[in-house]
Formats: sequence, C-alpha cells, structure tokens
Amino acid sequence: MPEELVSRSIELPGGELRLLQPQESAELPDAGAVEWAPVVPYWSVLWRSGVALAGKLAGMALRGLRIVELGCGFAVPSIAAARAGAVVLATDACADALTLATRNARLNDVRLETATVDWAAPDELVRRAPFDLVLAADVLYERASIPQLLSLLPRLAPEAWLADPGRPAGVAFLERADSRWPIETSVGDVVLFHRLQLS
Ligand SMILES: C[S@@+](CC[C@H](N)C(=O)[O-])C[C@H]1O[C@@H](n2cnc3c(N)ncnc32)[C@H](O)[C@@H]1O
Repeated sequence: MPEELVSRSIELPGGELRLLQPQESAELPDAGAVEWAPVVPYWSVLWRSGVALAGKLAGMALRGLRIVELGCGFAVPSIAAARAGAVVLATDACADALTLATRNARLNDVRLETATVDWAAPDELVRRAPFDLVLAADVLYERASIPQLLSLLPRLAPEAWLADPGRPAGVAFLERADSRWPIETSVGDVVLFHRLQLS
C-alpha cells in the first residue's frame, strides 16, 4: 500500500463522497478526450468509469438489494450503492485496493464487505451468489478477461451494469455479449453504460 495518501472529494447526486487516494495517482491528469493507461497500479486511479457509474447509482433507491462489484479498485460505485441502501460486496484481485476501499467506505459512514477475487478463479464468489446486480467499471482492457467475464457474470446475478470507456477489449467483449443477452447502452461523456440482462 502506498504510504502517502491525499484527500479527494467528488460530488454525486446523493452528496459529496470523501476519498483517500495514493498521492502518485492523485497527481495524474484525467481530463483527456479518451481514457488512457497510466503507470501506477490501476486500482489506485480514480477512473472516470467508476465515478460515472457511482453517479448513476447515487440517486437510486437500492435498499435491500445485494450487489457485487467486480474489479472495484477504488470502489466508488460500491460506496455510492451502499449509501443508497444496498448491501455491497466489493471485490478486486488486488488486496491493497480492498484495504483502501474499506477505509474510504468508513470515511463516508457506510460499510462494505470485501473479498479478494480474481476472475480466473471465481468459485468462492460464485458460492455466495445469487446477487441482485453486478457492477463493473473499466474492467475490460485485457483480452484474457473477456471469456472470464462472459462466463462469470451470469453465474452471479440476473443483471449487470458495466461502465466502460470503449477500450478494444471492451468492444470485443460487448460484441460477444450482445449475441447472448439483451444489452441496453446509453452514452455518457467519455463513458458508455451497458445494462446486460443475463437471465
Ligand atoms: C482500470 S481499473 C478500474 C477500477 C475501478 N473499477 C474504477 O473504475 O475506478 C481495473 C481494476 O480491475 C482489477 N482487475 C483486473 N483484472 C482483474 C482480474 N482478473 N480479477 C479481478 N480484478 C481484476 C484491477 O485490479 C483494477 O482494480
């Protein structure tokens, strides 16, 4: 875990979220016309897909829903969903991400459950299914993730909401997903939202 953390805040419909972030990641520019790939650990970046998905969730009534986030990194959507009343399991392959996500959830007076989960070995997570909803933001940038997530998503919940900046692996995933499930897509600023009906 990087030692130097700085305070950030983001405005969401349900109010401000306060976050601690590794300083080296907080200093990165993030206002370009397309999303990019910096040289710090990916989990430590405040990706626009995560912030945008959190913005969608923040104004919703989610009380009583069981939600799982995959590749949560900073877990901003998880924190927003928990604040909207959901019971949330935030997961990532990287344990450092989950340590900071737990701390950031507490900073915002919500509780997250966390689990270290790699999509290559998801059986333990699948045993905790079914959830009501899967969330994932900017998780499609490696080709290897495509078959893993195509297989995993329908084992977890009847619906998944993906926020994605349109990287090549994301486009390839959606082409294959589109032949299996109904997908409703809406266009944000840099980020696309995809609602996948998995059952
Ligand atoms: C680009 S970051 C996005 C983080 C966060 N969802 C957001 O939008 O801010 C991708 C995240 O996916 C996680 N990840 C990548 N491959 C993974 C895998 N095979 N299993 C689980 N998590 C993975 C990374 O650790 C990282 O936190």
